[in-house]
Amino acid sequence: GLRQPIIAIDGPAGAGKSTVARQVANQLGLVYLDTGAMYRAITWLVLEKGISIDDECAIAELVNDCRIELTPSQNIQFPVQVWINDHNVTQVIRTVEVTSQVSAIAAQSAVRKALVQQQQNWGQKGGLVAEGRDIGTHVFPDAEVKIFLTASVAERARRRHQDFSTQGQAEVSLEQLEQDIAARDYKDSTRTISPLRKAADALEVETDGLTPSQVAARIVSHYQDRLAQR
Ligand code: CDP
Ligand code: CDP
Repeated sequence: GLRQPIIAIDGPAGAGKSTVARQVANQLGLVYLDTGAMYRAITWLVLEKGISIDDECAIAELVNDCRIELTPSQNIQFPVQVWINDHNVTQVIRTVEVTSQVSAIAAQSAVRKALVQQQQNWGQKGGLVAEGRDIGTHVFPDAEVKIFLTASVAERARRRHQDFSTQGQAEVSLEQLEQDIAARDYKDSTRTISPLRKAADALEVETDGLTPSQVAARIVSHYQDRLAQR
């Protein structure tokens, strides 16, 4: 049947996926889907319940029996509110604790299976800008537009560092952020199931030295070219 277009945006931490995906969605009147927030929410729940991150059975049970909701909000710093089993986890999913464990949990097959299923259900009618690690390769392989965003590790750490200081969060050093990001890049791109990879038909955009608006404009123009070709 006729479905609205889907824009898939993948890339490593700090490449600008969330910021740019949100801008593109606003400009084109599409819905923004942050899939990383879903992996973070599950990770928060696992830690909250004191389940060991190696206990794949218990985690599978948890993920198959939880409800995640993403709701738009007027809060400029957190324009998407994230809920799991009715807990508002918008802010706690961004902590160092969750960030350091999320890649291990996101590598588990039961977790990926359940969350991908949910994402595909939400995307059935299209009209989405979805961002993550496996959107163009696995979640929406038929997306009309696929983008792979990159930037150097140094630039990505610098961006995260700036985000933390604007939010007035406990000081995390630039060196620490570089190490964390490099470790997550490695885990996400070497895991067995749907590793972080550029889809063959994705447009790669190297974002060092570009502003979010410049990147968004490039994506919108690529989207318009692609639709004109249909
Ligand atoms: O915002 P940031 O790039 O730091 O991370 P995120 O997009 O919130 O994703 C957090 C983690 O979730 C990633 O490091 C991956 O381990 C996992 N993830 C994934 O495996 N697949 C996705 N589609 C999205 C996120
Ligand atoms: O979602 P992802 O982890 O890929 O990146 P993000 O959470 O959107 O964070 C990127 C940060 O870098 C934000 O503070 C953006 O304002 C900034 N930034 C960007 O996203 N894109 C650029 N081209 C330049 C800076």
